[in-house]
Amino acid sequence: MSVDTVTYATPPLTSPLTLIHEASQAPGWWRSAVIYQVYPRSFRDLNGDGIGDLAGITAELPHLADLDVDAVWLSPFFKSPQRDAGYDVSDYCDVDPIFGTLLDFDILMAEANRLNVRVIVDLVPNHCSDQHVAFQAALAAPAESPERDMFIFRDGTGQDGNEPPNNWQSHFGGPARTRITGPGGQPGQWYLHLFDSSQPDFNWDNPAVHAEFERVLRFWLDRGVSGFQVDVAHALVKAPGLPGWGGRADGGSSDGFPGHEAPMFGQPAVHDIYRAWRRILAEYGADRILCAEAGVDLPRLAHWVRPDEMHQAFNFPFLHAGLDVYRLRGVITDSLTVLNGVGAPSTWVLSNHDVVRHASRFGYNGHGPRDGDGIGPADPQPDTDLGRRRAAAASMFMLGLPGAAYLYQGEELGLPDGTDIPGHLRQDPTFARTGGERLGRDGCRVPLPWRAAERHLGFGAGADPWLPLPASFGELARDAQAAAPSSHLNLYRSMLALRRGLDLGSGSLAWAEDWCSGSSLAYVNGTTLVIMNLNHEPLDLPAGRVLLRSAGPETGHRLASGETAWLCLDGGGAE
Ligand code: NOJ
Ligand code: CA
Repeated sequence: MSVDTVTYATPPLTSPLTLIHEASQAPGWWRSAVIYQVYPRSFRDLNGDGIGDLAGITAELPHLADLDVDAVWLSPFFKSPQRDAGYDVSDYCDVDPIFGTLLDFDILMAEANRLNVRVIVDLVPNHCSDQHVAFQAALAAPAESPERDMFIFRDGTGQDGNEPPNNWQSHFGGPARTRITGPGGQPGQWYLHLFDSSQPDFNWDNPAVHAEFERVLRFWLDRGVSGFQVDVAHALVKAPGLPGWGGRADGGSSDGFPGHEAPMFGQPAVHDIYRAWRRILAEYGADRILCAEAGVDLPRLAHWVRPDEMHQAFNFPFLHAGLDVYRLRGVITDSLTVLNGVGAPSTWVLSNHDVVRHASRFGYNGHGPRDGDGIGPADPQPDTDLGRRRAAAASMFMLGLPGAAYLYQGEELGLPDGTDIPGHLRQDPTFARTGGERLGRDGCRVPLPWRAAERHLGFGAGADPWLPLPASFGELARDAQAAAPSSHLNLYRSMLALRRGLDLGSGSLAWAEDWCSGSSLAYVNGTTLVIMNLNHEPLDLPAGRVLLRSAGPETGHRLASGETAWLCLDGGGAE
């Protein structure tokens, strides 16, 4: 992608600056927001059954308001058999009993409103649970019936229909087709599931599916939510005829990530769905948003956030760029350029419930774990100090960028993944579906430590947490960090306060060329210089007052290896 190189005066920085993005005061809270992902089952267990719950979120919400986040995004808490940690929904308009009740949700909403924190919920429209009433009705109905047409049933191929209708593979391993049996045990049709066999894909060619999800949107909008994160937003519509696909199960092609020619992703008609949804949200006011979880490459990502579609899309290319300065620079430049073209803000994210936490990913000098595969007791272990130091640097680098930032619960504590989870406790279907070959995502889903002196580190006072908290979480507990001025938590507080004070989320971005090298990267946002050093050697900082640095107490005007600093270039600036 080509950009103009301009040199303009930002005294006392003398470096040439390559302007990529200008500051914008376009309306919309979401353009510059910090959105905190809550993974309910691991946040806080108030009733002591070992699983986090909505009442636990309500109880601890003041801590998130104190962190100064604009919104929380709640991963699924809807009625579900929990075969994929709630991404297998059996009733979209009810709360699963393990998390509480609709009344608990209303209480959570009221507390969020009191604290001025918005609530975004997860919408899972590609598939439901096989326990959903619509799928149960489809199983009971004959082939070609309206009930079957809510899903993607086909006859098998080969002799007696014994072979699946096509060769698609599940994301979690194994075939993406499962054959049903009739009431008399006779073999029947095959249904499509891009994920677990308990997660049948809806048929988005059927208007009845559209009507059902419009009802679901209104249900939660009526309860006061500020919007939806849309799960696998690129997958809802499949190519006509469901043609065979020899590429990777996630749609990735042999050319790399992602395979835009895959028949199960990015079909043009998917955009009509989001245009219709945006019109529904607009009925509730301009502040309700849609965010796409769309695993597509950057030029295409812009299609999801055109002015009449979604408001935001997750920036997975940024997450996958890791600490590679060339990739980071390329992804940031491309994101801002491509999204500017459609008037959308970029988002930035380093961790979520599907990838190894960045404090662990960055704790390796060579190759770390493959995303989605986790780290087990037999694997090389990350260097936790190195990982946490680099994670702080990466977060500080990210939080200076213009656009919206997503945080994953626990990253403000610098939590690493749980790496010693025994196989019998693992719950991610990836583990079972691959016979343990791929560990799956449980490591990043370990419950949070709240109070060091309490039972289960304050996660819950009763039963053992659904996944064990590593002993190392004790010194990382929130109360211990709150009391330590140079803790990871207090760094996050300072970063988020400064980010708001300096309005960095609505700001500009120009690369400071003299400070960009094979091992360092620097940009100017307004009057703030953000500089990250990934070299093994310290780096002399340019002139300017240091506002904040990621490696703790100041050590002179040099930037340590694995450190980021924010400098004020105008001689003034916020404290
Ligand atoms: C993406 C979600 O983030 C992941 O956790 C889930 O397993 C799949 N979509 C299927 O819903
Ligand atoms: Ca509970």
